[in-house]
Amino acid sequence: TDRYAVFGNPISHSKSPLIHAEFARQTGQELVYEAIEAPMDDFRGAVLAFRDAGGRGANVTVPFKEQAYLLAGERSERADAAGAVNTLTFADGEIWGDNTDGAGLVNDLLNNLDFDPAGQRILLLGAGGAARGVGLPLMEREPAELFVANRTAYKARELSARFDCYGGGFEALEGRRFDLVINATAASLAGDLPPLPEDIFMRGALAYDMMYGRDTPFLAFARAHGARTADGLGMLVEQAAEAFAIWRGVRPQTAPVIAMLRNA
Ligand code: ATR
Repeated sequence: TDRYAVFGNPISHSKSPLIHAEFARQTGQELVYEAIEAPMDDFRGAVLAFRDAGGRGANVTVPFKEQAYLLAGERSERADAAGAVNTLTFADGEIWGDNTDGAGLVNDLLNNLDFDPAGQRILLLGAGGAARGVGLPLMEREPAELFVANRTAYKARELSARFDCYGGGFEALEGRRFDLVINATAASLAGDLPPLPEDIFMRGALAYDMMYGRDTPFLAFARAHGARTADGLGMLVEQAAEAFAIWRGVRPQTAPVIAMLRNA
């Protein structure tokens, strides 16, 4: 049986084993997928041990995505753009690195939220690991505008230069309005709300928080200002589907898995 795993620290709450087990069942693929907590100081050793024991591929989550990028011998363009890898494939002694986070977000928008980024004004909040993964796939959908805003303005400008779009501090948002606002900051974790102007949402706008599993101040703010809201659960399942398709050559259905997780 082919073995896969997700590496992170901590990892015990990961939903990835459940998601991939569902995908395997649904597509009739025979595989096992486990969660492995890599030691903070030896991600590389943990991954190589798994590969040497016969592992076929791995997902990588916080805080190892940048290390996974360095571990990969060859990488996809979207992984290079992100500077981070969440999907490793082991074959013929090579380690191939990809990043499916951005595709996961875009597919969640397209498939589950009826939102096509093409021609839309998009605001990406944050300039850390979560934001880095999604810029190129969003730009590839040819939005009218992508603006990256971050508490530390120079990081937003640096990241936006990478994506070939614009960026700045939160104060640069004054007077601007967007069709889609994506919260990729860690503010929700701390129960904080990024400092957004009251009139940031266009009529009918979508507010997307990459976090999932609980309501956040950002989503509450969005609802109070008339925006439609979505959390990051769909993105989680879609990025997993993209990884599954890379490894197994078949694309699982995501909607039933998202529904299952919502009802759990
Ligand atoms: P992640 O991998 O989750 O993106 P990260 O790389 O540490 O984590 O990045 C955290 C992001 O959340 C950064 O953009 C950070 O802003 P700074 O670059 O100014 O630090 C942002 N962030 C964290 N806490 C925040 C808060 N309370 N309000 C606004 N932004 C916050």
